[in-house]
Amino acid sequence: MEEQLKPSPNSVNPLSESSEDDDVPVLSSHALAALQEFLTEQQSQSDAEEVSLVSEDWRLSQFWYTPQTATTIAKEVLTLCHASPHSRVACIACPTLYAYLKKMDPNVSVQLLEYDKRFEQYGSEYTFYDYNHPEELPSELRHSCKVVIADPPYLSQECLEKVAETISLLIQPGETFLLLLTGEVQKERAAEILGLHPCGFRPQHSSKLGNEFRLFSNYDPGTRLGGWEN
Ligand SMILES: C[S@@+](CC[C@H](N)C(=O)[O-])C[C@H]1O[C@@H](n2cnc3c(N)ncnc32)[C@H](O)[C@@H]1O
Repeated sequence: MEEQLKPSPNSVNPLSESSEDDDVPVLSSHALAALQEFLTEQQSQSDAEEVSLVSEDWRLSQFWYTPQTATTIAKEVLTLCHASPHSRVACIACPTLYAYLKKMDPNVSVQLLEYDKRFEQYGSEYTFYDYNHPEELPSELRHSCKVVIADPPYLSQECLEKVAETISLLIQPGETFLLLLTGEVQKERAAEILGLHPCGFRPQHSSKLGNEFRLFSNYDPGTRLGGWEN
């Protein structure tokens, strides 16, 4: 039986707190850095609010990223793309990331592979994809992608193996970049099946999940994405 991603019944939206201190005329460098970080996050959030998403369907194991998570991953993908012009990106089962990528760079070449046909709204950049049939891919997509990001719907070995099969059919020859978002429980399998390492960055979802989530990559992100964890 496949383990589905589960929302936590204790999902909460913590209220943000602010403090005012008019007696301090000069901010310390630490406070300035914190303020800058806060303003950057606010900017990401307000950018993100403009991205409209269809509602989550939990029967399809749909749990959308928070705006901050989607923005962080999209920035990473765009960094990879901008370093190698004409890079094609495949988003496997991560429609939120597709939407953020297109918002942040409308010119990015990206294909969304997704089971939910509501995403047919993305026209020719949508490809119907069922992980149970990993080889059913249009010929023009085969071995054409430099960057592949996958967020499989289930936390099972079978699901990861089948998605890995699809990834191997999508990636082009030469240097390629692979990002996998999945549960911590898949850590060993991600290493065995795809040679991936966990990054420090912790993806977050709008509906709080009961499963700890991780981001894995096949390349060393340096200081980005919280670096590779040893
Ligand atoms: C865990 S969610 C990942 C979504 C991601 N967090 C986001 O915000 O874009 C898994 C995705 O797998 C899709 N899915 C469900 N059943 C599938 C199937 N049989 N084959 C491929 N994808 C499927 C869902 O529609 C959903 O978009």
